[in-house]
Amino acid sequence: MSATFSLQDLTRQLEQLEAEAASAIAAAGSAADLEELRVGLLGKKGRLSVVLGAMGRLPGEERPLVGQRANVLKEQVQALLAERLENVKGAAMAERLERERLDVTAPCRYVPPGHRHPLIATIEEIVDIFAGLGYRVSEGPEIETDHYNFTALNIPEHHPARDMQDTFYLGGDRLLRTHTSPVQIRHLEANPPPVRIVAPGRVFRRDAVDATHSPVFHQVEVLALDEGLDFSHLRGTVTTFLQRFFGDLPVRFRASYFPFTEPSAEVDVQWRGRWLEVMGCGMVDPAVLEGLGIDPRTHSGFAAGLGVERFCMVRHGIDDIRRLYTSDLRFLEQF
Ligand code: DAH
Repeated sequence: MSATFSLQDLTRQLEQLEAEAASAIAAAGSAADLEELRVGLLGKKGRLSVVLGAMGRLPGEERPLVGQRANVLKEQVQALLAERLENVKGAAMAERLERERLDVTAPCRYVPPGHRHPLIATIEEIVDIFAGLGYRVSEGPEIETDHYNFTALNIPEHHPARDMQDTFYLGGDRLLRTHTSPVQIRHLEANPPPVRIVAPGRVFRRDAVDATHSPVFHQVEVLALDEGLDFSHLRGTVTTFLQRFFGDLPVRFRASYFPFTEPSAEVDVQWRGRWLEVMGCGMVDPAVLEGLGIDPRTHSGFAAGLGVERFCMVRHGIDDIRRLYTSDLRFLEQF
């Protein structure tokens, strides 16, 4: 037992402690590990305290030797701990910076730029021209009632005009609208004249699909109602519009018939040497105005309607209406 507490023994223990502490500190990987080491080495119940406790049993003249050595060791260990703590913190920060690295020079993911479908572009172009003439956009529902789609437009039940506009009947008196003309009625019910509107939208007919027909297609409706409008205003407006859209081409009005206009006309443009029918129009029939409670002696107006697909196909030389609906990028990317 006495050998354990000889000066030699204690000195050896301190040397051993020094060597072990140095390697343990060097191996510590975190601040928590280092704190654990500090407590185990230098704490009240730590290994250095054990040696110092044993020192009391040495002869008085030997104690300072051990004491001095212990103090030096304590300072060394503290210095090593502090130094290692700095390293560990620095490594943790470096690791975090690496983990949270953000490469601001990385190229972004490529998203091919889309563009408007040629039909949408055509609608926008038509609406733009009328907006330039002072017209506002008005829209109506695709599911209509018999009243708005037919009756209010002077197309009573059993009228032969209904044959040409057979549609999808939804039960009750609801149906898919066959044209944008019902927007005329809806707009006039909600807005007193003067009115100048353009109404783009989707319409439906019970038509078999072929190169020029689709059961779902698009129209743009035009309506002007005011005091003192006559056929010359209709003619000037439609001609101006067509020449802005197609270029400075000959425009021809042919007498025609629509139940909701009187007189009515069909309009042709001379496109690449051929007369092409492009829209219908006419002076709003007094019967339509009377149905709306508007006095046809004080107010008059004109209306026109056109098929967007037709305009788009003529303008771009598209041979088959189905190309507009099949979402084939080889086709769409040409516009
Ligand atoms: N609604 C007619 C159709 O779909 C087109 C039309 C003709 C509209 C003459 C009009 C018009 O406003 O005045 O066939």
